[in-house]
This record gives sequence, C-alpha cells and structure tokens, in this order.
Amino acid sequence: MADNLIGQSLARVDAVGKVTGATLYPGDLTMPGMLHMKVLFARRPHARIKRLDTRRAEAAPGVVAVLTAKDVPVNEFGLIVNDAPVLAIDTVRWIGEKVALVVAETEKQAARARDLIEVEYEDLPVLSDPRQAMQLGAPQLHTSRGKENNVLAHYRIRKGDVDEAFQQADVIVEGTYHTPFQEHAFLQPEAGLAYLDEEGRVTVQVAGQWTHEDQEQIAHALNLPKEQVRVIYPAIGGAFGGREDMSVQIILALAASRLKRPVKIVWSREESIIGHHKRHQMFFKTRWGATKDGQLVAAEVEAISDAGAYAYTSTKVLGNTTLMCTGPYEIPNVKVDTYAVYTNNIPCGAFRGFGGPQGLFAAEQQMNKLAEKLGMDVVELRMKNLLHEGSLLSVGTPLPRGVSMPQVAEHAALDGGWKREGDKWQRPHAPSCTQKNKRYGIGYACGYKNVGFSFGAPEQCTAKIVLRGKAEIEEAIVYHSGADCGQGAHTVFAQMAAEALELPIEKIQLVVSDTATTANSGSASASRMTFMAGNSILGAAELALKKWREEDRPAIGTYSYRPPKTTPYDPETGKSEPNFAYGYVAQVAEVEVDIETGHVRLLRVWCADDVGTAINPQLVQGQIEGAIVQAQGYAILEDFVQKDGRTLTPYLSTYLIPTVLDVPQEVNSLILEYPDPIGPFGARGMGEMPYLPLTPAVTAAVHDAIGVWFDDFPLTPDRVLKALKK
Ligand code: MOS
Repeated sequence: MADNLIGQSLARVDAVGKVTGATLYPGDLTMPGMLHMKVLFARRPHARIKRLDTRRAEAAPGVVAVLTAKDVPVNEFGLIVNDAPVLAIDTVRWIGEKVALVVAETEKQAARARDLIEVEYEDLPVLSDPRQAMQLGAPQLHTSRGKENNVLAHYRIRKGDVDEAFQQADVIVEGTYHTPFQEHAFLQPEAGLAYLDEEGRVTVQVAGQWTHEDQEQIAHALNLPKEQVRVIYPAIGGAFGGREDMSVQIILALAASRLKRPVKIVWSREESIIGHHKRHQMFFKTRWGATKDGQLVAAEVEAISDAGAYAYTSTKVLGNTTLMCTGPYEIPNVKVDTYAVYTNNIPCGAFRGFGGPQGLFAAEQQMNKLAEKLGMDVVELRMKNLLHEGSLLSVGTPLPRGVSMPQVAEHAALDGGWKREGDKWQRPHAPSCTQKNKRYGIGYACGYKNVGFSFGAPEQCTAKIVLRGKAEIEEAIVYHSGADCGQGAHTVFAQMAAEALELPIEKIQLVVSDTATTANSGSASASRMTFMAGNSILGAAELALKKWREEDRPAIGTYSYRPPKTTPYDPETGKSEPNFAYGYVAQVAEVEVDIETGHVRLLRVWCADDVGTAINPQLVQGQIEGAIVQAQGYAILEDFVQKDGRTLTPYLSTYLIPTVLDVPQEVNSLILEYPDPIGPFGARGMGEMPYLPLTPAVTAAVHDAIGVWFDDFPLTPDRVLKALKK
C-alpha cells in the first residue's frame, strides 16, 4: 500500500458537502435565542471623536446592548504589534475603524439602532500617500509609539559595494514602479456566530487562517485566560491572507461574553471591502547594472510601502519584499532600503505572496528591460544570473539545499516555445495580427517564494493521531487545527496520514480546526500548510505506530514539528538566514492588446512550478490556475481606488475581478518535482508562488505587443490608451 496515495488526485474530503450545499459556512450558522450585531464604522479617514452618544440607540426597539471602547477590557489588538483598538478610543484613523457595536433581537433592529448613534467628529489632516507621510513635519498618526515620521519599519541590506560596482557596469537600468492595492474578494464576506459553549467558554465560529492566533487575540482583548476562549472554523470560503488579521472575531466574542447569549454577524460586501486589510501599494526606485555579456553586478532598491492606519502584518510583508525585490538572482553588490509607513488608508496586510509580488514586479521589470538594453534574450540573461544550489542570497547567507531555479526557468521557457542552442536562447514569435486593431505579445518572468514563517518568527506545527482497533487498526483519527481555506488542505492531511500509517484513506477520520480539541498548527499562510502539517503528521504517525506496536490501545502519537531556525535581518547589513525552504516558479504569458479600446487580454500561460512532490496533483493544478487568475486580476483588471483616505470602489460593481469570461483560454500547469530535502514526502509549499511572476510576465508581453513598458498597473483600458497616445 505504501507510496500509493502520494501523487494521486483523490477526491476532496469536503467535496460532497460543498457540492450539495450541506456544508455550513459561518454566515449559515444559527442558534436558538440568537442576537444580531451591526458595526458602526467611522467612515471617515482621520478624526477626533468629540462626542459619542448612544442613548437613542439603546432605547430603540429590540436593542439589547450598545458597546463602545469603554466596554472592551483590553482595547487593543494586532497580529505582530498591538497598535489597533478593538473599538475606537478618541481618534479614528481609517474609514473602517469600528466606533460602536449594536446588538439587537433582529438584524433590522440592529441596523436601525446603529443609525441612531450620534457621533460628533473633528476632522484631522489625512495622510493618503506614504511618501508624504514619511516626510519631516507630517502629522503623526501614532504619537505614543516612538515611531519617527510614521515609519513603522525600515529594513536595510548592504552587500558588497554598489557604488564601486556601478562603475564596472556596461549597462544600467533605472526604474520607478508603483504596485497597486488589491482586495481579496473572497466569496464569503466576514461572518460568524459566538456563544458560550457547554463548558462556559466564549466560543467563536468564524472563518480564519489560524484558530490559535485568533484565540490568543480574543483572549488578550477580553482579558481572559486562553482556555476560556474557543475558536472553531466551519467551512471557510476563501482567505488568501485576508483573514489573517482580526475582523469580526473579537467583537463577536466581546458581545457573547457580555450578553451570555449567542450573537451573529454577517458583513455585507461593502463592509467586507472597507473592513479588512488590502495588499500593500508600494513605490519602488531601483537601479541595476550589468556587464555587456549579461552578468549582473549591482542592484540598488528603495521601496516604500503603504501600511495604512495600523501595523497588521506590514513588518513581515515588508521583510519579504526586501528579500524579493532583487529577484531570484545572485547579485554580488546589493543595497536595499525598504520602509513601511502609516497612512490613513485601509490597513494593508497579508495577501497571497505576502510582499513578494510587489518586490518581484520591480525586479523582473528591471531584468526584462536590461535584456532589451543588452540586446540579449530574456531567458539567456536569466540563465547567467539565476540563484542555484550554493548561491548566496542578498542577505549574505546561502539558500537552503534543493535550489531548482535554473531547471524551473528552463522548463517554463521550453514549454512556452523558446528554443535553445548551447547557451543561446531564442524567443518564440507572438501570433501575427489577423485583425488590424489587435497586437500580440509574449513575456517571461520567474521567481521564488519562501515556505513558512520567516526572519526568526517562532515556527511549529502540531498533530495528534489516535489509532483504534484490536489486532488491526480499524480507524485513525487525525487531530489537526490547520485551516482549509478552500485550497484542499484537509484532503492532503488525510492523504499524508493514510500514507504514513499505511492505511486506506477510508480509515482516516479528521478532527480539525477547533482550539478545544486540536493543538496549534500555525496559520494557513506563507505557503506553509502542506509542508508544516505534513511533517507534523509524519511525526505523529511514527509515534502512534510505535505505541501501537507496544500494544497501547488506543495508540496515541502527538508530535510538534519544528523546522530549522531562521533569523531576523541585521539592522545595519540585513544579514540573516531568512527562510528554511522555498519553491521555485517561472512563467510565459501571451497577451492580446486591442489598440483601439485599450483592452488587454491574457490568452495563454505556461507556469512551471517546482512543488517538490505533488501530494495531490489536481489540487496543485487548482492552486496554479487560481493563482494565475487572481494575479491576472491584479495585473490587468483590479483597480482599488482610495482618494484622501476614502474608498471609491467599495462594491464588486466598481472593483472588478476576473470572471469566467476573462480567464485565459489556456493555463498550462507544468508541475515539477525536485524534492525538498526536508519537506514531507519531498513536498514544497506552493500556494503562493504561481501568483508571483504573472504581472511582470504580462507587462513584458504587453511591451512585446505594443512597445510600451508599463511601470504601474493594473493595465486597464484607460491606462493603456493613454500610453499608446504618447
Ligand atoms: Mo498569506 S498572504 O501568507 O495568508
């Protein structure tokens, strides 16, 4: 039976319930005696609260409670830094700041009463651009935190001597880039149900990415021991990083613990869009130099990221950008300065790729422009510079073993139509135009993505396996808190457990995502879940089997997997061991540009991904296709507009995401398997990496088609037409 289950596209464990509609998402949950909650959002970007009067709301029909800052025991939260209030204290710093909560017998009553709350504001100056917010003399958003000029974080990399190296360069390319905000647009807006369970624990059923982190932040704000808070994830309905930070978790727990009755909330799409963080917009200034035979000698990068009103995961996202902004290349001389800066925009935070896509866009634009300037094929230029086994990163340390970047880059190029002769590469020709208003182009980009928490963040994942039976194992129960956000994690857990225990998949029972029954797994983020959960399941299976052989009934194995340690950036030089594993990716994109209307269509994509081992190839393919379409939205379509701290695109009618009519005709998923030396069954994490190179591959393809470099995006028709007119 061994080796049977890994590499098989088994049906998802959650398929039947989701297809039949039997599966309940947080918004579907109900309970007898349940109350309904509405949030009063500030809906202004920066103001002092002069007066807050809830009396009329309290007296309104059906109202059970109106809660404000004074009702929150420890009024602060944050995944990395506790700099955000649960409910506004004195000042509001973004439009989605929660000012008050209304709990009533019906949803309508809660909504009506919310509109009766009187707030008098004194507007304050609004910071809407991080480049201005970091100037001397700008108003300070977090005066008490000792941050200068609204700068939440500043990282530096100093490797070699860039000034001297630029002297040796035959060609230098300078670029100024902007990468836009992006909204996660998961299918299910924020929702949840909170109540006291049979043991009196404040229990929150909600969609998230890390049950135990939600539990910790709820416990902190409510000033309760963790054991008195329970978090359960029903079906999740998409996350993509957008559920890493708190949205409805704490407020639900607060209301249920105060009122001792079940409380439910469901956000509208508009509330979801203004209520949770976005992908960071970033501004890059960058300068790269190479010799005339295509050897990179120096890269200098400055990146300014828009943290928005509160820290959320900005420091960690920026850490990733800092590493990725010089691309998957070995460059002897590197100077990087990156900043995360507070503004009055919606807080920015985790979103698939976690700062990588922004940094990689700047890097790959530079590479594609360098190739043009050198008159060298884009793949040929990469082959001379790509990270390989033993390469030193910009941070002065070698990559973990198992570097497959050159092989992956080559596979993608060959698959996408490039020809190789010795060291020479020849690009394919885009289809020629059959209609006079259409132009076609082909672009190439590559990248890599870390697996797991970086820069010294504590990292572990725990699994418990219980084997039941007499002579033979009749069933194996796998206890794991890892979140299945829709990517298929639980199916892969079952597959890996069955394989490790040498049992048929039918004998595996999963108990998942409940802090009362499962141990801390860390989050479903950073492309880490298959890798971390797999190693924890392998460890637990081995221990449980040992107990089984020792005649324990039931036989129980609990195992916490800890990967090799990582270290933070040195504050002066950036020296660090940033990550313990990576996945490698390269892409070819083919586009059509309509030069009359400015429409850009993504026609075909070839995406080569080294996933180490594809535990379930169909799920891997699903991740690749999903990532491509999400990145296509980022590159071409999704235009999240904030003006003076206000969101102009708070609906899916104004914030357009790709539909079935937009997706490429062909996404060729080239699944490569160069095993990771420490991955479970050799697997690498892969949920994010297919997202990363798409935007620069698309902008390169558009350049191929119409001869214009786009240094900012999305490539909406207005932007394309404006550029064509020039
Ligand atoms: Mo993710 S952006 O690592 O949730």
